[in-house]
Amino acid sequence: MLEEHRLDPAVHDCATFDCGVSALNDYLSRFATQHRRRGVSQTYVLVDPAAPSLVLGYHTLSAAQIDAAELTDTDRKRLPRYPIPCFRMGRLACRADRQGQGLGQVLIGCAVERCLKAREEVASFALVVDAKDGGAKAFYEHYGFTPCIDRPLTLYLPLGR
Ligand SMILES: CC(C)(COP(=O)(O)OP(=O)(O)OC[C@H]1O[C@@H](n2cnc3c(N)ncnc32)[C@H](O)[C@@H]1OP(=O)(O)O)[C@@H](O)C(=O)NCCC(=O)NCCS
Repeated sequence: MLEEHRLDPAVHDCATFDCGVSALNDYLSRFATQHRRRGVSQTYVLVDPAAPSLVLGYHTLSAAQIDAAELTDTDRKRLPRYPIPCFRMGRLACRADRQGQGLGQVLIGCAVERCLKAREEVASFALVVDAKDGGAKAFYEHYGFTPCIDRPLTLYLPLGR
């Protein structure tokens, strides 16, 4: 059974991670630890406990906000007009040689679970993602994310009703 852990550079081998997108590889090996220290984003990795240093995939979470005007009519009607608190999954990636095996789905599930736990302490309306292209957008829509009005590559998933 795979496990999701907070990134620990002393344990997790970030240098060999390859998802096929160099910006996402570089982020893990060069910026993730620094960003955690500076409060920019928290990185979580997916590993097999039988090979705990091998990063199979990762996602990042940060606090965020979204303009109510960017939400669908139905969501907007239920919310105040000032910026709405959210969480942002800024990055999501799986090893290229393990793509298409359901790891992306596992990572989204882990991220949503963390957000649900966190919103018990600090309110948040939705999990927001920025899709890097139309393919990533379709992937997120497959999981129920809704594109923002006028910003179709930014999508959100309400965390409760
Ligand atoms: C995007 C990414 C994280 C998806 O992870 P993955 O492990 O390959 O995807 P999964 O195997 O979990 O796919 C789960 C489901 O999403 C669907 N899916 C995958 N890619 C899709 C796409 N482009 N459009 C629509 N659905 C898609 C799959 O068909 C599958 O559906 P099913 O369970 O009904 O069969 C992975 O491909 C990746 O790391 N890509 C490179 C980095 C990247 O593009 N990150 C996104 C940045 S915004």
